[in-house]
This record gives sequence, structure tokens and C-alpha cells, in this order.
Amino acid sequence: MDNQLFCSICHKPYVMQKYEYGTSFVNVPVAQCNCEEKALKDAEEEEKERERVRRMDALNLPPIFAPYRLKDLTCEHSGDALPYVEGFKPRRSKGLFIYGPNGNGKTTLAAVICKELAYRGYRVLFTTMTEMLDKMEFGIGSNRALQAQRVLKELLTYDFVMFDDYGRENYTPLRLQNVFQIVDRLYKYRVVFGVTVNPECMDRLAHIPELAAIDDRMRQVLMQWEFVKPSLRGAQK
Ligand SMILES: Nc1ncnc2c1ncn2[C@@H]1O[C@H](COP(=O)(O)OP(=O)(O)OP(=O)(O)O)[C@@H](O)[C@H]1O
Ligand SMILES: [Mg+2]
Ligand SMILES: [Zn+2]
Repeated sequence: MDNQLFCSICHKPYVMQKYEYGTSFVNVPVAQCNCEEKALKDAEEEEKERERVRRMDALNLPPIFAPYRLKDLTCEHSGDALPYVEGFKPRRSKGLFIYGPNGNGKTTLAAVICKELAYRGYRVLFTTMTEMLDKMEFGIGSNRALQAQRVLKELLTYDFVMFDDYGRENYTPLRLQNVFQIVDRLYKYRVVFGVTVNPECMDRLAHIPELAAIDDRMRQVLMQWEFVKPSLRGAQK
């Protein structure tokens, strides 16, 4: 027969089967093996894996955090991290204000949370305010305003954005406007975000009156995880 179908992999012929369709019957060719079904499933799995790799790339995580995984991490708030990730809801969850003195694992915890969320399929960005502010200022003249809008718009596409070491950046009048825009936009569009901050940076921020409005918004949408233990950096050596 001309229109005989074969499995494209093992070449076994399909067999016509009669199906009842309302009051009549139709003949349908049916594969006698599951090669094609399996190949389709494999291709879907591969696509999912490629998608995962793309998401992990987009995460922007510095390589130093590659060895850390949420399930093996122990620090002051590692016990809060898994429930946070498991209960995470884009546009609904509270964000994180990870606060405490230098070197006790805030950034590492923030990084593994980001990694875990990305692994679970969320669109996540690990960044710093410095990086975002620089990005917003990239371009000259009238391009700059456009570029700033572009960066803000892109931020809204994420499910979770983590700003490491908030307060480390230096502020110019333009940067003050821009940082307000970043936080205000995330707040208004309910993009879940987090910051890691140490007290020294918090002090610097507290002395900039223009940042009070940001502080206000952060207090409303972020929950605080405070670290109090001394630095792990010395202990490692
Ligand atoms: N849970 C952990 N267990 C063991 N070592 C850790 C852990 N978390 C972080 N470290 C190590 O401790 C050091 C400090 O970690 P990290 O940079 O995360 O601290 P931090 O609180 O963000 O510091 P800073 O306030 O300076 O930004 C790093 O060398 C890191 O590899
Ligand atoms: Mg840090
Ligand atoms: Zn086959």
C-alpha cells in the first residue's frame, strides 16, 4: 500500500485500527512500538534541560558560589531557606532582607537560594545595585534614558532578583534617582526581591535622606533574616 506508515526509528509498519467515531468508524494507523513516543519524550527532556541551562546562565551567579548547594549549607538561616524556596510564589512571596556583619555567609545563602529557585524553573537574577546602576547609565545622551527604561523593564520579567551587598555603591544624584526607580518599580509590580546588607553599609544608606523612601518600601515587602555570628572568613584558614 502506498500510504503505509512505518516507525521512523525501527521501521516496523504501523497497523490500521478501527475506531468508533460517533455512529461511524474510522481507520487509524497505529504504531506497534513505542520508539517514536520515547524519542519525543527524550527530545522534550533535552529541551527542558537546555532551558534549565539557559536559566542558570541568566542567573549571573559568580563562579565562587558554584560548589555551594542549599541542601548541604549550614548557616544561621539555612533552616529557613528550604521552606522559603519550597513555598516560593512569584509576585506573592515576601522578599528577603539578609542583614548582618561581614563574612558570616549572607551572600552565600542568597546565592544558593537563587540557584535553587532557578533550578526549580523560576526566572532569577543575582546582581548588585552597582551592576544595575551602571547598566542603567550605559549609553550616551538621550540613549541613556531609553537604556534606563530598558533595564527597568527587563527587571520586571524576573520572578526573583537578589541585590548582593546593598549600600556598597556610591551615589550621584542620577544614581539616587535610578536606585529609587529600581526599588519602586519592583515594589509596584510585586517582583519579589532580596538584598544582603551589612551594618556598615546600612549606616551609609541611613545618611542619605533621598533613600528613606526606598527604606520604607523595603520594610514593607522584605522579611528580615539577621545574622549575628562572627565572620567565617577567618575560621576557614
Ligand atoms: N554556610 C557556610 N559554611 C561554611 N563556609 C561558608 C558558609 N557560608 C559562607 N562561607 C564562607 O565564608 C566566607 C564569607 O561568606 P559570604 O561572602 O557569604 O559572607 P557575607 O556575609 O556575604 O560577607 P560580607 O558581609 O563581607 O558580604 C566565604 O569565604 C565563604 O566561602
Ligand atoms: Mg556578602
Ligand atoms: Zn519503532
